[in-house]
Order: sequence, then structure tokens, then C-alpha cells
Amino acid sequence: MTTPTVVTVRAPAKINLELVVGAPRPDGFHDLATVFHAVSLIDEVSAEPSDDITVTVEGTQADQVPCDETNLAVRAARLLARHTRTVTGARLHIRKGIPVAGGMAGGSADAAAALLACDTLWDTGLSRQELLHLGAQLGSDVPFALVGGTAVGTGRGERLTEVPAVGDHQWVVALAGRGLSTPAVYEELDRLRAGEFLSAPRVSDQLLKALRAGDPVLLGSRLANDLEAAACSLAPELEITLKIGRACGALGGIVSGSGPTVVFLVRDAEHAFDLTASLTACGSVRDVRRAHGPVHGAEIVEHART
Ligand code: C5P
Repeated sequence: MTTPTVVTVRAPAKINLELVVGAPRPDGFHDLATVFHAVSLIDEVSAEPSDDITVTVEGTQADQVPCDETNLAVRAARLLARHTRTVTGARLHIRKGIPVAGGMAGGSADAAAALLACDTLWDTGLSRQELLHLGAQLGSDVPFALVGGTAVGTGRGERLTEVPAVGDHQWVVALAGRGLSTPAVYEELDRLRAGEFLSAPRVSDQLLKALRAGDPVLLGSRLANDLEAAACSLAPELEITLKIGRACGALGGIVSGSGPTVVFLVRDAEHAFDLTASLTACGSVRDVRRAHGPVHGAEIVEHART
């Protein structure tokens, strides 16, 4: 009798150190130039053999993650099964460590983890390029969740070029009491910039220099996000959170992606502790976490007989 296998994959959250958004495209997306940075908030996805493809979710905010066909991990497994003509299913289980609807690509991390877990479980053996290609069909941030580290993203974010970066940067992550819908934030940006001329997006040389040099002070001063004004327009309490970070001497503070999570670059553990205390006391945030980056992309942490 063969015993079933379980494959467990961990995938990281992302911060956009810089997010430059261009004009809306006919396909509904925006051209962008961004610097992705994987940080140590992690989702874990386990896959076991099953007749069908199903998912369960545990962790804080698990109740806000759909467990039906719209779940990104389920969509990833179904896409892989279709692509490889696999008839076996998978019972997926997600342990959430990444804020839900927080602008940190938690759903994309789950999709990336599910692709890798099912590829291993089903022994479909796709190349990295094929996995990246399938990932891009699932969401703009999925390829980066597979790759991790620090990378420039272009196109709608799915075209990646690794960035040479040194150092381990320390982050304080302020979680908001509510989520923001990514399409709604992009729409708000279009509304705020209506009639403006928008040049082709590109990331700043200074930010890349800061990463190459491992210089947190320069990096902090160069954090920038075109979506920040739109996220603050929809969730004005984010301004208060950003202001607290500035008052506490954060090296830089920024809304993460489409928000509403706000991330602060700090000097060290003591600085992180002080900022955490101030953010917790202010009442404008739901929770505060520590993180560091860059970290790995999706990786198998367990492949065992149950
Ligand atoms: O690719 P993803 O599923 O993350 O995109 C979610 C939504 O965010 C898109 O449907 C679109 O409204 C918006 N988006 C965009 N331009 C991008 C990425 C996302 O307009 N480059």
C-alpha cells in the first residue's frame, strides 16, 4: 500500500519599494515599473492527494479568504492541472501569515505556493520558466512570489529582472483595520490623475543605487508609491499612520502596493520596538508586525509521507 504524500511550500509577502504607475491600458491593467522586495511575512500552503481540488484556510483573517473556486490557490492548482492534463486532485490547506487584502500580495503568494506544491505533488516537473508563465496568468504579482528577493517588475508587474542588492533591511508593518480592493485603488488613481500627461514608467536610479550599496538611509529616502495618494484618498486614516512613522524617525514609510498596509524602514530592533509602541498606542492600526527582507521566493519546506 502506498502512503499519501504531503508537500508544503512557504511563500513570502512583498513590498513595492517603488511603484511607478503609467497610463491605463486597453486590457484594464496599467503599465508599471516597480521594485519588488520579498519580506518575512509568510503564507504556507500544503497539498495532499485528493479526487478533487479543494482548499481550507487557517490563521488571522482566515474568514476573509474565499474557499471556493475564486481562491487563487485553487485557481493555480486548476490551471496547472489543465496545463499538464493531470487528473489527480489536491487537498490544499493555507496557513495565513500575510495580511488579507493588505497590498502585500498574500493571494499571489498562495497561488505561487500552490503551483509549486502541486507541481511536486503531481510530479508534473514544470520548468521554472513554465511556472512563471502560468503564474503571470493568475495575477501580476504571482511571478514575483515565485522568485522572491528584490526585483524590478515591468509590464503589469509580471516581467522580472533580478536586482543586485546587499544587506538585510528591517521593516515595521502596520496592518489596517480594513482591506482595500486593488482595482478600486487603481480606479481612484485614474480619477485623481485624469487629464494628466503620463510618461512611460521607470524606476529611479537612486533607489537601485541604495539597494546595491545596502544603504538603508538612502533607501528610506527613496521609497515611493504612485498608488499611495489613491489609497489615502479611500482610507484617510493611513495619513495618520504615515505621520506617526515620520514622527518616530522611520528611515522611510510607504503604503504597501495598493494598501492599506503601511510599511516603515527602521534602523534596528530598538527603533522597531519604539515605532511599534507608538503605532499600537495611536489606535489607527489593527496590528503591528516586524519583518525583514529580502527573503526567498516560494520554496518547498516539507515533502513527506503522511
Ligand atoms: O493582476 P492582479 O490580479 O493583481 O490585478 C488586480 C487588479 O488590479 C486588476 O484587475 C486591475 O484592476 C488592477 N491592476 C492594474 N494594473 C496592474 C496590476 C493590477 O490596473 N499593473
